[in-house]
Amino acid sequence: MVGQAMTTTNDQPIDIVHTKSGATCRIYPYGAHLTSYRTSTGKELLFLSRDAILDGSKAIRGGIPLCFPQFGQPDKSMPQHGFLRNNYWTEVSGSRFDNDDSAGVSMELCLTDAIHSRGGCWGMDTTLNVKCIYTVKIDGGGFVTTIEMENIGKECWDFQVLLHNYFLVQDGMALNSNICNIQGLEGYAVDDKVSGDKFVQCSQPVSLHDKLFDRVYTPPEGTIDLSLIISTNPMNTLSLSACGEVDGKKVCVSGVVWNPYKDNAKAMADFGDDQYVDMICVEPGLLSGVPTVEKGKKASFTQTVKCL
Ligand code: BG6
Repeated sequence: MVGQAMTTTNDQPIDIVHTKSGATCRIYPYGAHLTSYRTSTGKELLFLSRDAILDGSKAIRGGIPLCFPQFGQPDKSMPQHGFLRNNYWTEVSGSRFDNDDSAGVSMELCLTDAIHSRGGCWGMDTTLNVKCIYTVKIDGGGFVTTIEMENIGKECWDFQVLLHNYFLVQDGMALNSNICNIQGLEGYAVDDKVSGDKFVQCSQPVSLHDKLFDRVYTPPEGTIDLSLIISTNPMNTLSLSACGEVDGKKVCVSGVVWNPYKDNAKAMADFGDDQYVDMICVEPGLLSGVPTVEKGKKASFTQTVKCL
């Protein structure tokens, strides 16, 4: 059975309803950007900035921006977070579904259809190409997002990929460590992008503090998949698990935690000045030790978010 989603083009979002449970989600073709997921009881899990720009002139602030082929800007000749979040994706024909278990849709984008935010070797080099398929699947208690990246060009390429989740924190409690925190990063190597400090995460849950928070967590030897418990409210605890592979071989999953705090919130035109207390970004990604994708081969990355 086809989901109760409307056929849309350009800026019009795709609304998916899981009929059996009543859960819903909204995906914008610009960036294949999931901006809302509501459980069967109507609870929203994602934060969307009240000043988010939804007309395709800028990446959407909130929800789940997709980052590929780089996270941040290690290659300055490429735009920050790559080109996926700044281009219109196409719905994969016949991909919508709505059955007893779940509902969802797939979107696709090839490098050759990407007009914006290309750069570095992904700019003019016509020997490189990638076909990305992004699938969002929802049920009453959570969602699964999977991105597949297929090398359809003439040369191999290297990449990073990351799902930049903005989770909603109710009652403005993001900076309250008792209420909003993340378990599961203990023992990870921490790279604090603000202070430059590098250390190993202690046994305490990760929580924000009264300044810009921007840290990358690299797993210890032997840890492959990411498995986190995220509390955003005493009544709202989520599990997030993520796994990825290149050409069928598992790749270690890193995590990023980000909150802009006051000054950086003010500096972003598309983010409400006071909204930093309403969100926490917890972002799984394939960031280090990712093998090259050979011609004709595929990589994939999946996260599963569930209400506990
Ligand atoms: C985070 C990065 O994931 O994304 C931060 O670690 C960055 O360094 C933030 O500032 C937001 O990035 P952007 O490009 O969406 O403003």
